[in-house]
Amino acid sequence: MDILQELEDRRTAARLGGGEKRIAAQHSKGKLTARERIDLLLDEGSFEEFDMFVAHRCTDFGMEQDRPAGDGVVTGWGTINGRLVYVFSQDFTVMGGSVSETHGKKICKIMDLAMQNGAPVIGINDSGGARIQEGVASLAAYGEVFQRNITASGVIPQISLIMGPCAGGAVYSPAMTDFIFMVKDSSYMFVTGPDVVKTVTNEVVTAEELGGAGTHTRKSSVADAAFENDVEALAETRRLFDFLPLSNREKPPVRPFFDDVNRIEDSLDTLVPANPNSPYDMKELILKIADEADFYEIQAEFAKNILTGFIRLEGSTVGVVANQPMVLAGCLDIDSSRKAARFVRFCDAFEIPVLTLVDVPGFLPGTAQEYGGVIKHGAKLLFAYGEATVPKVTVITRKAYGGAYDVMASKHLNADFNYAWPTAEIAVMGAKGATEIIHRGKSAEEIAERTAEYEARFANPFVAAEKGFIDEVIMPHSTRKRVCRAFASLRNKKAAMPWKKHDNIPL
Ligand code: HXC
Repeated sequence: MDILQELEDRRTAARLGGGEKRIAAQHSKGKLTARERIDLLLDEGSFEEFDMFVAHRCTDFGMEQDRPAGDGVVTGWGTINGRLVYVFSQDFTVMGGSVSETHGKKICKIMDLAMQNGAPVIGINDSGGARIQEGVASLAAYGEVFQRNITASGVIPQISLIMGPCAGGAVYSPAMTDFIFMVKDSSYMFVTGPDVVKTVTNEVVTAEELGGAGTHTRKSSVADAAFENDVEALAETRRLFDFLPLSNREKPPVRPFFDDVNRIEDSLDTLVPANPNSPYDMKELILKIADEADFYEIQAEFAKNILTGFIRLEGSTVGVVANQPMVLAGCLDIDSSRKAARFVRFCDAFEIPVLTLVDVPGFLPGTAQEYGGVIKHGAKLLFAYGEATVPKVTVITRKAYGGAYDVMASKHLNADFNYAWPTAEIAVMGAKGATEIIHRGKSAEEIAERTAEYEARFANPFVAAEKGFIDEVIMPHSTRKRVCRAFASLRNKKAAMPWKKHDNIPL
């Protein structure tokens, strides 16, 4: 009996982490504890913990006197809506969640199991970084985690939640995972903090400005979404998880759906305005195509000229990439190309089909773009589409001009179905620009006349359809039905690139 009691006592002590006072301090910052987070993330009662009694082995700086059970990270596995997932959750109440040799080993253990068993890893980061007393042993621990992040990339989905500090080299583990979510006002990520920044560059900046959720979702694009608090971030992580396959060996889950596959949306017939320069909201089209109008947007706050995210069609996950005419006329630029390229590559790695909705006037001109390397960054998206072997369905709603036409999952990049609405204009450029070049030096009246002629001849989908670059011109109101049928016909698609060690995507 005493032995059983001892186990209970040890468990109770371990569960208390850094103790009541530090837990209260954690709560006073609006943060949940490592265990509370796991409880909200996983299905009730599903968590199985590993290594609850692991303690560090450091004997410097009197550390042997202080060996808390668990060593600042809670690890294990459980389920999210019944599907297996591995988790680690750093416990800031234990030595600031700092990473020791043994702390790192605990993380590596669950990552190895996740790889062997084909299930995602969700990492909850809340840590003061390398355990200073352990020095290089801590750096080694990080390195082992980094290597596993890399090895697991494209094999199992990896999701990082930043729910407190994540600084220095520690940022590079989340940086190599598939998705990063942050919590507003209580999380930050930076390679060097405000003090070092002040010393080196003389810039005065707060931690929040330097690496808070706003910075990383709007400016740097390091993070994919920011949430109001821990509870919302954890709930949204569960929602994302439901879209994803467990590994690259499995298909994404098929959920029950309650939406009519043949649903007709008459309002789509008037979505594209008569004036080709007027914007409209591409999100409306996404919502009207998706099952139950459910769109899980990724990087909503960054490069808003392109939309990326997940929907379901007939219950199956589909990744969506769509130009957004409401922002910068929907043009491609450095940021939107990078954002969409990474998304397409994620989808392809995990066998998630890609739906592309096109209304693109071209690439954004300017020295900022050219000096910033739009050639290389634009090539990322082109490359990502061209190497993707998953089912690819494309719908051109309006403009598909120039190189951007080719890039946006055109027939020439092995898209499977290329549809266009009757309002589509597939051409090298807009009618006016084209006419001004062909008829340079002619009078304004003549240019206007020739522009009208050009529009009549080329500003439509039929020239491309005649050549077979567009498989079918479809009625806007039947887009959901057509797209669902297209993906249904592609469920057993098999396509492969020739063997290579790996490609050399323009990074
Ligand atoms: C050991 C640490 C620690 C660390 C915090 N603690 N960080 N212990 N190693 N890195 C301990 C504190 O001593 C304290 O212990 C408890 O955690 C809570 O810390 P506080 O400072 O009281 O909390 P707060 O005021 O919220 O400040 C949080 C903090 C600060 C900003 C993260 O703790 C901090 O600056 N820590 C040091 C950060 C750092 O320099 N890390 C190493 C960077 S190099 P008690 O017992 O008082 O509760 C790095 C490289 C990674 O990380 C390399 C990867 C390749």
